[in-house]
Amino acid sequence: MVRLGILIGPKGRGSNMASIADACAEGRLDAEVAVVIAPNDSSPGVETAYSKNLKVAVVPPSEDYAKNLLEALRGVDYVCLAGYLRLLPAEVLRQFPNRILNIHPALLPEFGGKGMYGMRVHETVLAAGSKESGCTVHLVNEEYDKGEILLQRRCPVLPGDTPEDLAVRVLKEEHQAYVQALNELIHDRVDSRR
Ligand code: GRF
Repeated sequence: MVRLGILIGPKGRGSNMASIADACAEGRLDAEVAVVIAPNDSSPGVETAYSKNLKVAVVPPSEDYAKNLLEALRGVDYVCLAGYLRLLPAEVLRQFPNRILNIHPALLPEFGGKGMYGMRVHETVLAAGSKESGCTVHLVNEEYDKGEILLQRRCPVLPGDTPEDLAVRVLKEEHQAYVQALNELIHDRVDSRR
């Protein structure tokens, strides 16, 4: 069974983590969530992980951050970033070549990069007058939102949308996109090792 390690952020809702875990539990994804890694134990995402009986490792950014992350990720096949806001240490990137994924709440390569997260992404999409938005699952490298794009799902931007409206619409796509991208990688493992 393919083992996933999911990294959530400091204030993570954990909804992508939950949707991946549900897909595993319901047999829609041939994988298991081996560990959820969080920088603290106070986010809603950690609560959710416990409620789903997932293993949680709390790994705060510290001097030994890379070592501690690698320790928590031992035995993991794919690493999924879901609301994780930092750049991963180089040691972790090296350990999982083409095996670390992220999801971004817009259609990269537009509306990405440092500081582009949360509601700011949707505000920027609306300010640009875009007629559609969506989400992107991509491989992770040493730059924010720059790794190879694996899959995108689109949704319309509707007249009168607030950033919050758009965020809700995009998030629905995210939950499908992450599971779909993982399924594609898992069922075509040769390709994912290119
Ligand atoms: C999502 O919008 C994702 O695209 C971005 O961070 C958010 C995480 O949401 N990277 P959640 O914690 O999975 O609900």
